[in-house]
Amino acid sequence: MVSYSGAECLFLSLLLTIFFALSAGYLGGTTQPEVTIPQGTLRGKIMTTTHGRNVSAFLGIPYAQPPVGNKRFANPVPADGWEGIRNATAEGNICPQISSTDHITFFGDEDCLNLSVFTPQISSGKNSSLLPVMAFVFGGKFKTGFIKSSIYSPAYLLNQDVVLVTFNYRLGVLGFLSTGDKVASGNWGLKDQVLALEWVQRNIRYFHGDHDRVTLFGHSSGSACVHLLTLSKLTIGLFHKFIMQSGSGLAQWAYRPRAVYAKRAFELGDYVGCLNDTSDSLVRCLRNKSVLDITAVHARFYVWHYEPFTTWACTDEPDIKGAFITTSPANIVRAGQIRDVPCIMGVAENEGIVDSTDFYDKEGCLEDFLENFDYLLPIFLYWSYQPDSGAAWVKAAKSYYFNNIETMNRSELLTNLTLLIGDATFTYPMYSSLLYQHAVAVNPQYFYAFRYRGTWSNTYLYSNISTDYGVAHADDLTYIFPHVDYNIILALNKTPNENDLQMREIMVQLWTSFANHSKPSTLFFRGNTTWEPYSKKDNYLQIGDRSEITLEVKHPFSTGRMQFWANLERSTAEAETIGVIH
Ligand SMILES: *[C@@H]1O[C@H](CO)[C@@H](O)[C@H](O)[C@H]1NC(C)=O
Ligand SMILES: *[C@@H]1O[C@H](CO)[C@@H](O)[C@H](O)[C@H]1NC(C)=O
Ligand SMILES: *[C@@H]1O[C@H](CO)[C@@H](O)[C@H](O)[C@H]1NC(C)=O
Ligand SMILES: *[C@@H]1O[C@H](CO)[C@@H](O)[C@H](O)[C@H]1NC(C)=O
Ligand SMILES: *[C@@H]1O[C@H](CO)[C@@H](O)[C@H](O)[C@H]1NC(C)=O
Ligand SMILES: *[C@@H]1O[C@H](CO)[C@@H](O)[C@H](O)[C@H]1NC(C)=O
Ligand SMILES: *[C@@H]1O[C@H](CO)[C@@H](O)[C@H](O)[C@H]1NC(C)=O
Ligand SMILES: *[C@@H]1O[C@H](CO)[C@@H](O)[C@H](O)[C@H]1NC(C)=O
Ligand SMILES: *[C@@H]1O[C@H](CO)[C@@H](O)[C@H](O)[C@H]1NC(C)=O
Ligand SMILES: *[C@@H]1O[C@H](CO)[C@@H](O)[C@H](O)[C@H]1NC(C)=O
Ligand SMILES: *[C@@H]1O[C@H](CO)[C@@H](O)[C@H](O)[C@H]1NC(C)=O
Repeated sequence: MVSYSGAECLFLSLLLTIFFALSAGYLGGTTQPEVTIPQGTLRGKIMTTTHGRNVSAFLGIPYAQPPVGNKRFANPVPADGWEGIRNATAEGNICPQISSTDHITFFGDEDCLNLSVFTPQISSGKNSSLLPVMAFVFGGKFKTGFIKSSIYSPAYLLNQDVVLVTFNYRLGVLGFLSTGDKVASGNWGLKDQVLALEWVQRNIRYFHGDHDRVTLFGHSSGSACVHLLTLSKLTIGLFHKFIMQSGSGLAQWAYRPRAVYAKRAFELGDYVGCLNDTSDSLVRCLRNKSVLDITAVHARFYVWHYEPFTTWACTDEPDIKGAFITTSPANIVRAGQIRDVPCIMGVAENEGIVDSTDFYDKEGCLEDFLENFDYLLPIFLYWSYQPDSGAAWVKAAKSYYFNNIETMNRSELLTNLTLLIGDATFTYPMYSSLLYQHAVAVNPQYFYAFRYRGTWSNTYLYSNISTDYGVAHADDLTYIFPHVDYNIILALNKTPNENDLQMREIMVQLWTSFANHSKPSTLFFRGNTTWEPYSKKDNYLQIGDRSEITLEVKHPFSTGRMQFWANLERSTAEAETIGVIH
């Protein structure tokens, strides 16, 4: 092992959500809307959108029974109903998690499987006017996040006629522990999402939503979840189109083979005093531990600083009833088993900066990393699980992104390290997902590159330096949800300008029109921009150009960098099949 001194390289976890709880809501009037669903009657509240439209919000609706006791590390069970009127005005419990800012503070409650519904109308019972439904999966590296209604809020999207659904799902060890066998086969958080989508099918018409027009969308690890949900047979018929923003199920951080988790589950047992030697006794012992006990040991799994950040994520399961997937996402897409429905996929221009600001900000951090590059890169990028522990990929990445490492100056090193991280973590996995989808699907894919740098950028969260680091991970999300605390925006003097407000309208129109009739369009530019579906031209929509509001169809997307990863993947797959790498 190498020891690291000096710089504190605090690799910020993505999200945002935790520090950005908006205190000011959009609570409008005093009349409380009511809806009766098979589970019982809900009394919600009124919220007001940015255009001053009053909409109904129903918060904290239970969709699964509390996943406690024997239901911990088990498939979720649909929630029971209630007597009388249920207050749907308070936020649902947050699922247990460790703060993504200080990496220490624990909060949340295991009894957290609830969802929220936001609707412009209460059902009039007429099918013809049912509204398109948009179901959102939040991100946070499979480990943090929650659906607070001021963050994943209807304030922007419900300026249009859509019904919005957000839901909590189990996170971290509670959401993704697997013993690698049928005793606790894993993917609990994803199965929660499946159950939430089933709830939508059964109930959304009572909120004036059309269960035949459900758009699943997500950001970051939430986007990876969306992709994974398209690869699972459990979700057939549960959604009709999807949007992936900066996260793919093909990313190395999104999936680990079950053998990795089989070992890790017993390691967890060791840390919490469950020295059991069978999966059965281990799981029984783990179910009897307090949630704090099993969550708080997360730091034991870090190898270097807070990396790898994601200890537990998606895995393959044995072929048992209720299995989410039974082989790797890569194997599924390679076999052409994609979900053939319309989709939007895209990335921000400078994805890598979310994980690389500390190299810029913290003295000594870059030097530490470079000194131990071959050891740390596979940890940082989740390549350790490859048959050769990532050695071949490190070698290739080093010669491609750092072909002259000895003579590169600091700014070149930082630029290329950020590029490498962004390409490996977000951009290439998304592009690869697109190509696999395109190869088989009849329905259109719409591909975008978000290149608008607004007054606000999430780089202000990732780093407290006011440097313009480009268009960061989650910058696009800013125009769909008010997910950043407005007080922070005010404090940094970054209130939206005219262009920012226009970008918000454009993004909302593109996303909601897609939800409406599968074709993203906007009234801006006199409706003169046509977002052509992806084709062999390798075309994409460039959304914004620095601070300019533009929408431009361009091609090709693939540069030498995307080719590099495609070749690397191909040669690895070939080597694996002829047994060169062990
Ligand atoms: C929204 O509700 C408030 C309070 O009930 C009311 O004063 C206001 O006129 C409503 N706005 C619209 C656009 O209906
Ligand atoms: C329901 O919520 C309202 C506030 O929104 C509160 O005044 C009321 O006491 C709650 N009722 C119950 C039964 O909890
Ligand atoms: C959230 O859902 C759970 C069921 O898993 C329920 O017990 C809890 O009361 C709900 N929270 C709120 C605030 O309604
Ligand atoms: C609405 O559609 C459902 C099937 O999708 C049908 O069973 C029901 O009768 C319809 N209701 C009305 C009011 O047309
Ligand atoms: C698991 O191991 C712990 C401690 O090693 C022991 O106390 C417990 O009885 C075991 N649990 C089961 C279910 O065997
Ligand atoms: C563990 O099991 C004991 C004995 O059955 C029980 O009293 C205790 O409440 C359990 N603890 C947890 C956290 O489940
Ligand atoms: C960021 O802010 C913290 C707290 O205000 C400060 O300690 C730290 O030095 C700042 N870092 C940089 C790189 O400016
Ligand atoms: C930086 O990375 C790019 C690939 O994006 C590569 O073309 C370039 O040669 C690299 N620069 C150096 C100095 O290695
Ligand atoms: C780093 O090298 C690049 C390319 O040679 C050059 O353009 C840049 O000015 C250099 N930066 C510094 C800080 O020396
Ligand atoms: C959906 O399309 C209908 C008919 O074209 C239109 O009236 C409605 O405003 C559209 N809704 C959204 C959210 O775009
Ligand atoms: C639409 O855009 C094209 C190319 O940018 C331009 O030539 C044309 O005049 C525009 N049409 C309208 C109606 O704005």
